[in-house]
Amino acid sequence: QELQLNLEQIVKGGYDHFMLKEIHEQPVAIKDTYRGRLLVKEGIIRMAGIDDNLERILNANRIIVIACGTSWHAGLVSEYIFEDLARIPVEVEYASEFRYRNPVITEKDVVIAISQSGETADTLAAIKLAKSKGAFVFGVCNVVGSSIARETHAGAYTHAGPEIGVASTKAFTTQITVLTLIALKLAKEKGTISKSEFQHHLQELELIPDKVEKALLQDEHIKKVAETYKDAKNCLYLGRGYNFPVALEGALKLKEISYIHAEGYPAAEMKHGPIALIDEQMPVFVIATKKGHYEKVVSNIEEIKSRSGKIIGIVTEGDVDVKNLADHVIEVPETIESLTPLLTTIPLQLLSYHIAVMLDKNVDQPRNLAKSVTVE
Ligand code: G6P
Repeated sequence: QELQLNLEQIVKGGYDHFMLKEIHEQPVAIKDTYRGRLLVKEGIIRMAGIDDNLERILNANRIIVIACGTSWHAGLVSEYIFEDLARIPVEVEYASEFRYRNPVITEKDVVIAISQSGETADTLAAIKLAKSKGAFVFGVCNVVGSSIARETHAGAYTHAGPEIGVASTKAFTTQITVLTLIALKLAKEKGTISKSEFQHHLQELELIPDKVEKALLQDEHIKKVAETYKDAKNCLYLGRGYNFPVALEGALKLKEISYIHAEGYPAAEMKHGPIALIDEQMPVFVIATKKGHYEKVVSNIEEIKSRSGKIIGIVTEGDVDVKNLADHVIEVPETIESLTPLLTTIPLQLLSYHIAVMLDKNVDQPRNLAKSVTVE
């Protein structure tokens, strides 16, 4: 028994749960994802799966991203990156809806399938459908040699290492890292980004692991915030632009492991419904980093405040405006707008983790959920 316990401690690397271990692995995981691909000094991004199929991908009419769960949220982030940097139209689809919708797919489409496990049944079926219509299918998987990795025409692994906790953490940030690399590479090839902008992105991406490390240092503070809101029955998560999908992911993390009802919304949509829910009982987590619609988000925060909602702002280091309005703020280091999701996600993961632990839930194996869903 004692030996068994010790063994468990060893595989969890001294952490109480795999989820916490995997949250803390993100600086290394992101580095592993871009190692050998992001060559800052040379000013290039090297990715064999893209290089070998460059013409096909550059000639695409559009990119269709298919995925489920957290991977779908990474896909949504990539929509902003691909459109913003590479000016390629993107559609992001739930694999389960896509495959049953009789979608319009042609040989001019490029499909990107995102899956941590590489085994999700709906994603696999959607890939087969897209292939049968002549589309080129590119996989972004974590598990090497998985079914989706084998079924796709080409791909790029995330190299995040094994993810054991059912609630996905490092898979999400490494998926975003791979998708960012792809978008940057295509942007350079297409000439939709200037040389200096491209170089600036490479430099900023290389700094992300250290900044994630810094974001993780807020852990004790986040624990106190978690203590304040652990008994909430409902929570709202708001973000705009690149951070709208992060709001969705923050809400998903909370519901998955703490069983608290949580919803993510684009901040500007609040007035079309969710605002009706706001009262003094409602914690609202608002991603309000300096880069990206900051003033607009601040005015959304004012609307919440005037209705007595509790405001927890995820802000850029040194922020003043949101701090003056919010009940709590959690700081993340500054970076360029397109990379903010890699930082703003971190406190939301930790927050869900601590709330679930405080509520005595099974963090690594939440009820009714599976790590990989190989049935429809
Ligand atoms: C399950 C897991 C989620 C995951 C989703 C998609 O629902 O619990 O964490 O995001 O499947 O999985 P995939 O392996 O395709 O990324």
